[in-house]
Amino acid sequence: MGPSVSNEVVVLVVDAVLKKKELNSVDASFAIKELKEFLKRDPKALRYLKKGLGKGGVNSRSSEFKRVVSSVRKNLRRYHGLFSEGDRDYDKMVSELSSAKSFASLKKKALEVLSMHTSSKERASDYGFVWKQIWGLCYLSDLKKVRFLDLGCGFNPFSLIGLDKKQLGKIEFNSYDINVSEQDVLNKFYTGLSKTVDGFAGESGLLDLLDVSLVSSLPESDVCLMFKVTDHLDKGKGHKNTENVVVAVSAQFVVLSFPTVTRTGLPMKYPQRRWVEIMSERLGYVWEKFETKNEMFYVIDKRQADHH
Ligand SMILES: C[S@@+](CC[C@H](N)C(=O)[O-])C[C@H]1O[C@@H](n2cnc3c(N)ncnc32)[C@H](O)[C@@H]1O
Repeated sequence: MGPSVSNEVVVLVVDAVLKKKELNSVDASFAIKELKEFLKRDPKALRYLKKGLGKGGVNSRSSEFKRVVSSVRKNLRRYHGLFSEGDRDYDKMVSELSSAKSFASLKKKALEVLSMHTSSKERASDYGFVWKQIWGLCYLSDLKKVRFLDLGCGFNPFSLIGLDKKQLGKIEFNSYDINVSEQDVLNKFYTGLSKTVDGFAGESGLLDLLDVSLVSSLPESDVCLMFKVTDHLDKGKGHKNTENVVVAVSAQFVVLSFPTVTRTGLPMKYPQRRWVEIMSERLGYVWEKFETKNEMFYVIDKRQADHH
């Protein structure tokens, strides 16, 4: 926040923001970042918070304080994909996943989880097709091990459950998101898979994709998935943040996806995302695309490019 807003005030705001149950799991550093962004756009709030804590200063019961808190929450929810269907009871999910003894019971649980997250729920009937396209990428089926990265993963890794055991046995799956709470559930799922499928390995961790140096230090992979993440990274300001990740990530293929239908079910104004094609060509990558009823997928093949 620089010298303008004191640390005590930042802590007061961020604590208030994260008090809401569904934001409990968000790391404080993201809330601070979101507050910073908000203050850049809202001089009135900035003036108010600059007053500091003393007499006549910032007061957590004032309407301006509450306005700041609810605006930051709104952005956190929007950008961090916290659109749950009702209450997500993580502890219950984790214990049920841990207690799954067989592949069949793990599958039942995983399908339930998929139906709880907006993105994976919307994709539910198309997952078979999507995985078939991905598995069909040139040489994947010939590899002994297929290494995946899933960035901004949400609950997407649970869709692995639609693959057969032979495919799963070849997979090394690393997934990352900024959302802490999903990590535990995902790691339990991976443990369940590695117990019931010979050869499967998976791990999930915390990562902010805006930190490109972290992205370039991720393990090498064959396919990097970035489903419905780019809008969260670019936030309507060009596409540089997405491009930085696509360039930095060590992967043969990067698969980007975009919704073609709005959350209310209307067709989107610009569903074509020509910028992906233009970006890929500029960087010397080969691209192709495929579509489902509400999502567009771009497969970017980085293999030919003269790296960096
Ligand atoms: C619309 S959801 C898509 C989830 C998943 N990829 C899917 O399609 O099912 C967007 C995801 O991006 C994650 N995200 C947003 N900003 C991020 C960032 N800076 N770094 C890492 N993940 C981020 C959110 O936490 C959320 O899980």
